[in-house]
Amino acid sequence: MKSNRRSFLKATAAFGTVSLVGFPHIWNKNSSLAYAADGEIKVGVLFSLTGTTAIIEESLNKATIMAIEEINAAGGINGRKLVPVVEDPASDPATFAEKARKLVLSDKCVSVFGSYTSASRKAVLPVFEKQNNLYWYPTLYEGRECSKNVIYTGAVPNQQQDDFVPWLVEKFGKRWYLIGSNYIYPKEENNYCKKLLAELGAEVVAEEYVPLGHSEFSSVINKLKAEKPNVIFSTVVGDSVVALHRQYHAAGLDPEKMPMASLTTSENEVAAMGGEAAAGHFTSAPYFMVWDSPENHKFVDAYKKRWGGDKVTHFVSEPSYFQIYLFKQAVEKLAGSDISPNAIREAVKGQELVAPQGKVRIEPENLHSWLWPKIGQCQADGQFKILKQSANWLEPSPYKAYPNQHCTAEGLKQS
Ligand code: ACM
Repeated sequence: MKSNRRSFLKATAAFGTVSLVGFPHIWNKNSSLAYAADGEIKVGVLFSLTGTTAIIEESLNKATIMAIEEINAAGGINGRKLVPVVEDPASDPATFAEKARKLVLSDKCVSVFGSYTSASRKAVLPVFEKQNNLYWYPTLYEGRECSKNVIYTGAVPNQQQDDFVPWLVEKFGKRWYLIGSNYIYPKEENNYCKKLLAELGAEVVAEEYVPLGHSEFSSVINKLKAEKPNVIFSTVVGDSVVALHRQYHAAGLDPEKMPMASLTTSENEVAAMGGEAAAGHFTSAPYFMVWDSPENHKFVDAYKKRWGGDKVTHFVSEPSYFQIYLFKQAVEKLAGSDISPNAIREAVKGQELVAPQGKVRIEPENLHSWLWPKIGQCQADGQFKILKQSANWLEPSPYKAYPNQHCTAEGLKQS
């Protein structure tokens, strides 16, 4: 696994170098045409290939690169090839900001696709807002953000929790233990969860946060044994997902009595921990690898062919993939003339496409995505069984926990 990661890193680093060498042009920041010189369009790819969230971000890089390769193989966008400039921000928010500045200011990328944690998104946000560039963020996140410089293609809390929390309360009970990594995403996601639990008359028996990269859960396991909650609501991320599940399993706890309900455990972390450790636990997400649609079969087959038959797709790699096609649709709409970040943002508003999860749409008001919530239960083979799916796509409501605030095309409105 480590050596695979190393060789992939070398390959992607080489990819980045080749694309840089292939771009000796003088780029003019103020000219939109400079973003598409010599029949090429430069885009940044900013996912960690090392560090604690490489476990998931490496697969986001792969899905992004695959979509770019597919588009180029089919002739590019309006005849222009996409040139990805790949950087490794090493799971470190400060490095994310530094690499984002490089991609926008030195490489003159017209958009950057990147990041998993909200900590890293928050770190790059000032770069994109100051330079008026565009960041495409594929990860589920906590909402409460309104920026004209970010296109959000992952789920927000209402799209993961509105069906999930009442379903779990009804099925398992009202005593909940909240465990998350210690940063903004789990805290805001838990705020939303606590509002839903209060409406349902349910109780939070503990709310606990562990440092990013935490791998020693014995004290948490002891507290679980003592408290015996009905549901463990987990928003730990990265390597911690693997450690928590393995230690829960080794402690002999029973998912039938005390399941983990997660917003962050995908097929990818399950592949790393082994299906046995995840079997019986639940995840809410708009996409699972087993989803039965022609678009998903095509995506999964292509992914395995490109990256290896043992590789999995999941609810963050899927938006990493389809957002490149949304970018393509937006640039196509511009008919090859003005492809500045501003023009792309305006063109992507209201764009729809049939993604592997179903038809998705960019909401013009807030640049978030209409998505298809599903509830899955992990099986010992490492795949999820889909137990419930919404009848319709669900609107993104990034400020649902803050009802007097609304993200609009003109910015955040208070009422
Ligand atoms: C996350 O930090 N948005 C998973």
